[in-house]
Amino acid sequence: MSSLATPRPLALVTGASSGIGYELALLFAINGFDLVATGRSGKIDTAAADLARYGGEVVPVRADLAEADGVETVWRAVEQTGRFLDVAVLNAGRSIGGAFLDTDLDDELSLIELNVTSVVHLAKHVARHMAAGQRGRILITSSLSATLPTPYETVYGPSRAFTRMFALGLREELKEHGVSVTTLMPGATDSDFHARAGMDDTAFGPGMKKNSRKDVARQGFLALMNGHAEVVGGDPSTKRTALKNRFLPETLKAARHARMARPRS
Ligand SMILES: NC(=O)c1ccc[n+]([C@@H]2O[C@H](COP(=O)([O-])OP(=O)(O)OC[C@H]3O[C@@H](n4cnc5c(N)ncnc54)[C@H](OP(=O)(O)O)[C@@H]3O)[C@@H](O)[C@H]2O)c1
Repeated sequence: MSSLATPRPLALVTGASSGIGYELALLFAINGFDLVATGRSGKIDTAAADLARYGGEVVPVRADLAEADGVETVWRAVEQTGRFLDVAVLNAGRSIGGAFLDTDLDDELSLIELNVTSVVHLAKHVARHMAAGQRGRILITSSLSATLPTPYETVYGPSRAFTRMFALGLREELKEHGVSVTTLMPGATDSDFHARAGMDDTAFGPGMKKNSRKDVARQGFLALMNGHAEVVGGDPSTKRTALKNRFLPETLKAARHARMARPRS
């Protein structure tokens, strides 16, 4: 692994190989940051080469964050830079579509390891590191799904609800240590996310109009840099849905989501 020896600010982005995470990493690269960019697959090497075209140093890290060892590998890569970490974006995550009666338990437990456990694990390192320096910014990706029950991706929504409340709690604690925590809550966004979740045969499949991942990332980036508590990522209609979700009964939101996420066949 190459060492980073420049005075530029340093950002860690997990899930930087594609989708929203790649677009976020791109914004940091364009804005003069060096990067530690992580992904699970070899795609992270290609993404890192793209990101390095903006003049910064980019350390690609391939690690499975559903495993504690993977989280430690990522944090070791940050430590090996020998630098202060100015920004951490905890973004890697996934969903699993399908009826709970049919979905695989081990797969769902692994989703919880990724979407919940790895966020707490990595945040522990990041928070202690930043608090010691009395500065830093953390962006944690949650979801609009944190504001409703999500039948037919029944484990996913609660995992993102955890992420949201974890981020908001951490924000309050870290204030006095000079560290700002922001939550990004994207609505349905054009990435590999729904296909990977096996949801092509639902209303979230290829025919759906989704938010631009570039717009979602830009909104998250700006909210982070401005120190906001949370931002709904997406178009005005997505933001209106988030607002309405504050007042609608959970049972009604569950029925609405079931209609959209239920496999057609
Ligand atoms: N797209 C949406 O509609 C939507 C809506 C709300 C919230 N979100 C949230 O946004 C975040 C990013 O999703 P996305 O839409 O950008 O999806 P995506 O295009 O599928 O990207 C997911 C990223 O996470 C990485 N990743 C997946 N599993 C991993 C694992 N076990 N260990 C390490 N890295 C792993 C992937 O790496 P590889 O490519 O190498 O596998 C990839 O970089 C997720 O946390 C998701 O919950 C998405």
